[in-house]
Amino acid sequence: MSSVYRPRRSVLAVPGSSRKMIDKAKGLPADEIFLDLEDAVAPLANQEARGTIAEALAEDGWGDQIKVVRVNDWTTEWTYADVVEVVGRAGAHLDAILLPKVPDASHVQALDLLLTQIEKANGLEVGRIGIEPQIENAIGLTNIDAIATASPRVQTLVFGPADFMASINMRTLVVGEQPDGYDRGDAYHHILMTILMAARAHGVQAIDGPYLQIRDVEAFRRSAQRTAALGFDGKWVLHPTQIEAANDVFSPRQDDYDRAELILDAYEFHTSAAGGGRGAVMLGDEMIDEASRKMALVISAKGRAAGM
Ligand code: GLV
Ligand code: MG
Repeated sequence: MSSVYRPRRSVLAVPGSSRKMIDKAKGLPADEIFLDLEDAVAPLANQEARGTIAEALAEDGWGDQIKVVRVNDWTTEWTYADVVEVVGRAGAHLDAILLPKVPDASHVQALDLLLTQIEKANGLEVGRIGIEPQIENAIGLTNIDAIATASPRVQTLVFGPADFMASINMRTLVVGEQPDGYDRGDAYHHILMTILMAARAHGVQAIDGPYLQIRDVEAFRRSAQRTAALGFDGKWVLHPTQIEAANDVFSPRQDDYDRAELILDAYEFHTSAAGGGRGAVMLGDEMIDEASRKMALVISAKGRAAGM
């Protein structure tokens, strides 16, 4: 994990067709905000929403949230125009494009090429705008390594549970909850771990998708805790009330963060010439070695990024 790790503990979804909701989102403490042109926007409202998004992005009043736009997927007729209009008009104010329903690397490569042309044509830094592929079906999961490595622009792998459940015929309509009749643990475990392994293998962030019962913050917290415990970096939030819970759940606990800093200090001292140049050292009753240092580095980087 590099020192430029930008937290995405909370990723707020905002319909791109609602100027009012976009204006409200500007001041919210989500780590990332994505303005949606896909499923939260009716097809007939799509064209107007592109303009609304481009205007809103270029205006003042944003915090330091990561700013992202979700375009429509490449099987529709809208993707190229979504990208051309939004990035052409507001590319300098945008951090990444969220690309839904990615089945294989070609969808990421197509977006990469289009972004490069728009960046060149508009005098923007080439390669700065990232890509966040959404894994939302069986074919996407099967091709996940190729998707993660399809472009240096890929910054995250994002789980889309609603579309995923639909695509595999999972027997539930409650997104984020276990299917009725399944009593063998977490029905999503394989999918989540596959996404996490690919993210870690290729050095990008792993982001969990939405929890749809937006009034039940405790249930949201439970759902977030499951993926935070595995090692995911953050989760979508669909309503401002879920932001604080996501920021909390995906930040390291204070005692873990303090311990991580202690391990790093102790390790640095004892492995230096002044400290005896040892490989494994004692910290209290615990023996720490290079692997402990790596685990501590992850927690420390996340904690520092979260302002601890
Ligand atoms: C999000 O896009 C989902 O399908 O869950
Ligand atoms: Mg989806």
